Amino acid sequence: MILKNAFVLRNYSETPQKLDIKILNGKIEKIKKKIEEKNDEVVDLDNKLIIPGLVNTHTHAAMSVFRGVAEDLSFDTWFFKVIDPLESKLNEEIVYWTTLVSLMEMASNGIVAFCDMYMFEDVVAKAVADFGMKAVLTRGLVDIDGNGNGRLKETFKLLEKWHGFENRIYIGLGPHAPYTCSIDYLTEIAKISKDNDILVTMHLFENSWEKEKFNLKEILKTGIANNQLLAVHCVHIDDNDINLLFDYNVFISNNPSSNLKLGNGIAPITKMLSKGLNISFGTDGAASNNSLNVLFEARLSTLLQKKDNPENMKIEDVIKMLTTNGYKALKINGGEIKEGNYADFTILDLDNPSFLPIENIKNHLIHSNPKIFATMVNGKFIYFDGQFPTIDKKEVYKQFTISYRKVIGIEN
Ligand code: NI
Repeated sequence: MILKNAFVLRNYSETPQKLDIKILNGKIEKIKKKIEEKNDEVVDLDNKLIIPGLVNTHTHAAMSVFRGVAEDLSFDTWFFKVIDPLESKLNEEIVYWTTLVSLMEMASNGIVAFCDMYMFEDVVAKAVADFGMKAVLTRGLVDIDGNGNGRLKETFKLLEKWHGFENRIYIGLGPHAPYTCSIDYLTEIAKISKDNDILVTMHLFENSWEKEKFNLKEILKTGIANNQLLAVHCVHIDDNDINLLFDYNVFISNNPSSNLKLGNGIAPITKMLSKGLNISFGTDGAASNNSLNVLFEARLSTLLQKKDNPENMKIEDVIKMLTTNGYKALKINGGEIKEGNYADFTILDLDNPSFLPIENIKNHLIHSNPKIFATMVNGKFIYFDGQFPTIDKKEVYKQFTISYRKVIGIEN
């Protein structure tokens, strides 16, 4: 397949230019000013901008079923009183359909890859496999209820069945949070991470009371970051913690909408960036955001950090966080449009008044109003001009509605 006539932003530090891209076996084979080859499928992308695919480094995809269900509540009421009890109603079938809805939403927002932490990850993997997206999937791990081992067994099954599937699906370890995982459990998880060379992702210091109850050094001493830790939130951390996160090479997922909406605060992103930490963006689940759009997260985060100093969070740094940093956080290759890389693209429509003047399109990506035209993963379109070519949208919507009614307890 040849993508023709588009502007291409090869990576965060370059300037978009008109280039053709040839894709073979899911990878970028050639990038040139003009590619004229016969017998290839040609996709004319005139008036479009191709950028490296956007990455969402934290979500709970199946939680689309809880969107709008628990609004205007404190974190404790939201989680312990509403969401946690409703989660007991979920099953494999429900999670499959509700995950698909989130995949559709992410694809329509230009997201090519994401990191998930939830339950029934075997069907989450099936949904990702069917839809065509790229993901690191983690079974949420908790041991305070005595079933820590059962959840680890699920992780081993996932590893065996899905890790490396079509160079798109990878399995990681997902200890839920310091308040749901014991130090012994984290130590065991650290060992599994190292033995299998897979990443760990964990909610960390999302709430102020976590900072009071738990000690970051004690958590990191378990070895949890020795292979790779993607820490989510990190809102309530001080300068010492930032130094520790840097020393242990911890990756950070910044989820500003969820942090603000649940009243948890603003993460010290500027300080972490100046220390040199790898920061990327996550949406969190649709129950606490309620949209899965990393471009919005990037803009919100940038504006929050510019509040006191407009020189904070420069455009190129933010594009890097959305792309290159996201891939590094997920421990997979990508984030740049170059020969040999997988063809993971976010394609924007330049037929958009908020993208004029076209000479400044790179700056419009963060501070204007981007419109997504198409999303491609490993050389295949998963979203194209309003359509989802890999699935039957009507069937997904129908099954989603049935699932929602079952979870909430609405009689048909
Ligand atoms: Ni979360």
